[in-house]
Amino acid sequence: MTEQDKRLEILEANRRFFDTVADSFAEIDAYRLKETGQWVGDELKKLSQEAGSSALLDLGCGTGLAIQAGKGYFRHVFGIDLSHKMLREVSSGSNGSVCGDAIYLPFRADSFNVVACVSVLHHLFDHLPVFQEVHRVLKKGGLLYAVHDVDSVFMKRFHRPANLYRQCLGLSKKFVESKEGITEELLELADYHVAEGIDTQKLAEELQEAGFPDVTAEFYWRGANRQIDFLLRFFGAMGKTPRGFAPYFSVIARK
Ligand SMILES: C[S@@+](CC[C@H](N)C(=O)[O-])C[C@H]1O[C@@H](n2cnc3c(N)ncnc32)[C@H](O)[C@@H]1O
Repeated sequence: MTEQDKRLEILEANRRFFDTVADSFAEIDAYRLKETGQWVGDELKKLSQEAGSSALLDLGCGTGLAIQAGKGYFRHVFGIDLSHKMLREVSSGSNGSVCGDAIYLPFRADSFNVVACVSVLHHLFDHLPVFQEVHRVLKKGGLLYAVHDVDSVFMKRFHRPANLYRQCLGLSKKFVESKEGITEELLELADYHVAEGIDTQKLAEELQEAGFPDVTAEFYWRGANRQIDFLLRFFGAMGKTPRGFAPYFSVIARK
């Protein structure tokens, strides 16, 4: 199979997966949507103050987490997603949402102050072409904010418990059980980088290659589930953690 065939296979798996679960996505993923939505909103507020507040793009917007979280801080908010059925679930708040692949953004160069990408990178076969496209549509001084993806160092270190958690307690099981047509195989393809995680170091290098001179990454636990968040709050540990000791990462790349 060529690289391009694999890319298309992953793309098609994502389209099928998210088209199938679209009408129950908000219910199944309700906790993450609410909890993550709150602090993504706080972060978008800060980013709008740094990069300007005229336009935000929610890339891989799904049902519109970053659209909702950011609409109070940007004058114009747009979304793009591969799944037209996910887009149908976006409630009001955006100035327009389009169906398309992250690799070809149907926007003019220098259009956005911030591009937010929440829980999307692990669904993409490769990242460099997407980062180059994001770089094109960002204004000078604009920011890419990618958040809630899984880091490879943590996944390597805690491979067994992490995958056991994912299969038994994570959302994967709920999605597989929710609809006919959602198989483990389809989920594995759509969640392409979840089992092994994404190499954040390589990601930072690709961002630099795409033209972002300044890239920062943080590693954290919050947003995994209600019980873990309760413990994190209890122990005052909602903040960042050294790489390899937390499953999730966020990246901010400055153009
Ligand atoms: C886990 S959902 C996250 C949705 C939303 N950002 C959120 O946090 O609720 C991943 C989204 O990425 C979209 N997606 C996957 N591959 C994509 C691609 N190549 N281009 C655009 N969107 C894509 C899926 O359709 C899905 O809506």
